[in-house]
Amino acid sequence: MEVQESNLRPCPPLIVVSKIEVTDDKYKELIDSLPKEERFPPGLRKYQGFWQFQNAIPGVLAMKEDFKPRRDDVIVSSFPKSGTTWLKALTFTIMHRDKYTFSSHPLLKLNPHDCVPYIELHYALRDEQYLETLPSPRVLGMHVPYSLLSDSIKTSTCPIIHICRDPKDVIVSFWHMFKKFDGLMEPLSFKQTYELFCEGRVPTGPVCDHVLEYYTKSLSSPKKILILKYEEMLKDPTNGVVRIANFMGCPFSEEEIKSGLVEKIAEFCSFNELKNFDTKQSEGNIKSYYYRKGIAGDWQNYMTPEMANKLDEITKEKLCDSSFTF
Ligand code: A3P
Repeated sequence: MEVQESNLRPCPPLIVVSKIEVTDDKYKELIDSLPKEERFPPGLRKYQGFWQFQNAIPGVLAMKEDFKPRRDDVIVSSFPKSGTTWLKALTFTIMHRDKYTFSSHPLLKLNPHDCVPYIELHYALRDEQYLETLPSPRVLGMHVPYSLLSDSIKTSTCPIIHICRDPKDVIVSFWHMFKKFDGLMEPLSFKQTYELFCEGRVPTGPVCDHVLEYYTKSLSSPKKILILKYEEMLKDPTNGVVRIANFMGCPFSEEEIKSGLVEKIAEFCSFNELKNFDTKQSEGNIKSYYYRKGIAGDWQNYMTPEMANKLDEITKEKLCDSSFTF
């Protein structure tokens, strides 16, 4: 089926799952039985090692039970605030580079989360049929930990591209974004957010466990999972574009490389460009939730050296049995 821009539509931000009403008794009973974190309003629960908004758990479980990837799907995965929006824009643009010109591209009108919808969000909203209306090849997103994925995803041929980022910058980015959801979330202070991160009690956290699961699996299945680091992508975005295209099975041809397409895609999806498209989008779009500074090391403006050291120690301890470093 041809990709039609009209198949895509604006999606609500993932945070709406925090307010979804859970009506199914089966899920209510399970949720009530799980450990609870009250400091993160409206409440997180720990399910199989990972904290989630309690009302998001049914969507994750329904996705596990029901979602069947197509052979040619590409899935983008991340811990929140690690560069998901950027990676979604890049994968979508690379995948559909023959379909869209830069001057009439869907990203000029829709944000990357509309072009690459979250699977668990649509399950949580009981709107999963929408995913079926999207023509192949689809690019889909998720923040779900690897261990909570269905066997149908784990054993399928569809590649998973995972982006990760220094947890210190994740905390800063996370805090700024959550402050903006007036009415959906009670604002937490930076210190409260930092402490919750140190304890791993944040949505889809602990962050190191989340990344480590994908990293460990990428070692045994390098064709299934590609790990990208936000900081490396910032240093050399064109190399990132080439790696993503190769991994997705649609490498750039000699001709495309000579024409400068790789650099054009890197530029089209750069922070300044995406932010600019976002600003121009029509009312009702979730403006500026996804674009703030787009740099590495902003944590230095928010954390004391003691706070940074403590977090680095926690990270080091979590990663000590692995070859992974942020
Ligand atoms: P900051 O808040 O540190 O600026 P996510 O997409 O996972 O929610 O992550 C959001 C973070 O990625 C934000 O970080 C945002 O500014 C940054 N970001 C968004 N688009 C980007 C791009 N094209 N290049 C680099 N960083 C980008």
